[in-house]
Amino acid sequence: MILGIETSCDETAAAVLADGAKVLASVVASQDTIHAPYGGVVPELASRRHVEIIVPVIRKALGDAGVSLADLKAIAVTQGPGLVGSLLVGCSVAKSLAYVGRVPLIGVNHLEGHIFAAFLQDPSPAYPFLALVVSGGHTALYVAREPLRYEVIGQTRDDAAGEAFDKVAKLLGLGYPGGPVIEQTAKSGDPKAIPFPMAQITDGAPDFSFSGIKTAVSLHVKRNRPLSAGQVADIAASFQATAVKMLVRKTVRAALALGVRRIVLTGGVAANKALRAALQVEAAERGWEVFIPPPALCTDNAAMIAAAGHARFQAGERASLSMNAIPDMKLA
Ligand code: KG4
Ligand code: ZN
Repeated sequence: MILGIETSCDETAAAVLADGAKVLASVVASQDTIHAPYGGVVPELASRRHVEIIVPVIRKALGDAGVSLADLKAIAVTQGPGLVGSLLVGCSVAKSLAYVGRVPLIGVNHLEGHIFAAFLQDPSPAYPFLALVVSGGHTALYVAREPLRYEVIGQTRDDAAGEAFDKVAKLLGLGYPGGPVIEQTAKSGDPKAIPFPMAQITDGAPDFSFSGIKTAVSLHVKRNRPLSAGQVADIAASFQATAVKMLVRKTVRAALALGVRRIVLTGGVAANKALRAALQVEAAERGWEVFIPPPALCTDNAAMIAAAGHARFQAGERASLSMNAIPDMKLA
């Protein structure tokens, strides 16, 4: 039994996992209402809120699972990447609990956590696989040829995809977080209404870029103000369709180039139904396997951290009590 703790950004989360894949409890306390007035995460407010609720969140997870500190084989905590103030709260609490309970501690990379969300499902991916990790802070393709080893294949050169959803939502006055509200608004819009540009990476690298489409949306909004509800829906739908196309196209190309036939789609943006469906269609045409965690495990949670922690624990990894948050921690 492993306790997972996640506080890298604006969700305070704790989960208890049994045998590496059985989620006994998963508690996620969202801070959306705190950050919504600012249209994005305010780091200082995020860390303060983590401090206030991390202990109740952990208590609730242990209570839901019906276990106590003494039942835990290990404590896994997100060590990075993320906001330093936020990460420090989780790391401090995890270290304290590990010390008091004499339980081994494991530092987990948040991005590996997102990938391990796919291992909470049955079937889980075999190796090798290509993972598109697409969240508010990251957009990258990794190939995992063997367990616990990753190679970066491509990444965003500017904004993360989730960041683009959040910024476009802000431009359209739709609120925060942008992903879910863009998805909702797009339902009544025409995805072909506005031909937003697809980013071209001229050196041929399998990288992403989302700043161009964000600027295009911004210009389009300025030129057409005031926007009717129908125009807002069309912009949301057209933006979403273009972002999805860019993500899927690069992923398919990378998989073809690598000869990999298994794809993991994960991270907050992977909760998006249009993206899930588009990747599934492309993969089905080629006979590839696709692994997409359920939406609640795509966005930040601690079950995925416990899952990655379990794998690292099995591999013999332990963190010392002097471990520290690493805001720019790399996966590959
Ligand atoms: O993985 P996550 O919860 O946190 C980070 O590690 O960043 O991802 C949050 C991001 C936000 O940018 C949010 O707008 C986006 O994921 N997101 C979505 C959807 N749900 C969340 N983007 C598109 N469609 C969604 N349904
Ligand atoms: Zn995340």
